[in-house]
Amino acid sequence: MKHLLNAADLDRDQAIEILDEAEHMAETQAREIKKLPALRGKTVVNLFFEDSTRTRISFETAAKRLSADVINFSPKGSSVSKGESLKDTVLTLGAMHVDGIVVRHSASGAPYQIAHSGWTDASVVNAGDGTHQHPTQSLLDAMTIRQHLGNGLGSDLQGLKVMIVGDVLHSRVARSGVDLFTTLGAEVTLVAPATLLPARVDTWNCAVSYNLDQALEETKPDALMMLRVQRERMSAAGGGFFPGPEEYSREYGLDTARLGRLEPHTIVMHPGPMNRGLEISAEAADGPRSVIVQQVANGVAVRMAVLYLAMTGEK
Ligand code: NCD
Repeated sequence: MKHLLNAADLDRDQAIEILDEAEHMAETQAREIKKLPALRGKTVVNLFFEDSTRTRISFETAAKRLSADVINFSPKGSSVSKGESLKDTVLTLGAMHVDGIVVRHSASGAPYQIAHSGWTDASVVNAGDGTHQHPTQSLLDAMTIRQHLGNGLGSDLQGLKVMIVGDVLHSRVARSGVDLFTTLGAEVTLVAPATLLPARVDTWNCAVSYNLDQALEETKPDALMMLRVQRERMSAAGGGFFPGPEEYSREYGLDTARLGRLEPHTIVMHPGPMNRGLEISAEAADGPRSVIVQQVANGVAVRMAVLYLAMTGEK
């Protein structure tokens, strides 16, 4: 694996290889000295054209724990604010012989273009492109699900039911999740108002419901993932995706009543950042079923595994 651009590019064995490697990485992160020499002498650039807290910090931590040199690039304060193109930015990095480029961009497909247009020889890892893909997020989600509900190293998610609820339309997390979880054998159900589902969602490899209470009752999910309502993308499109926050949280929020009706083993997930009180109540986010903080911890291990496998080609 030279690049990781799309969760759909991974077959079952490749996905399991990354998840297993991430478990080994996680073990090293429980030690007092967390740094490994694996990427010593290599340079990773974090190229984040879109805002991020946990993904950026997590990639930076992962690269540093592998002893890579890390350069954080953000367009504010760079020549991008003078109008420099993506191509010229990447050519500049190529001239400096960086070995890995982690990229987040508002344009779907930007990481693919960086990887395949001959601008650089670096390994490219997609850290979220537009509404398209966020493969390391779905890997950290799969790792978290497997830790709670799976059968350990070497296993997939066969037989597990994952429900993803909310703003699917704007969510690269949902797209990557459907791709990866189904590759790993899970059954996925998407739940959202019709206005927050993408066109042609019926061709996706998953079930779709518009009614959360009914879907919870019929499916009894093992993992319930709440998505952030992406208001910044909605206002850019002129708004009007749902009547108001009260109605949204009444119909699609994970509140106390719905929390109480979940199966005893069901875990609650959220990729962050959360809108507490909108798609998820504080009780659900902070309660005993919540694995949200563990998702963040697993993010470092997964990104260590991905950077390592992509940049060394080794196991
Ligand atoms: C997600 C993203 O940026 O796609 N967050 C993340 O990476 N943890 C989801 C979101 O912004 O809602």
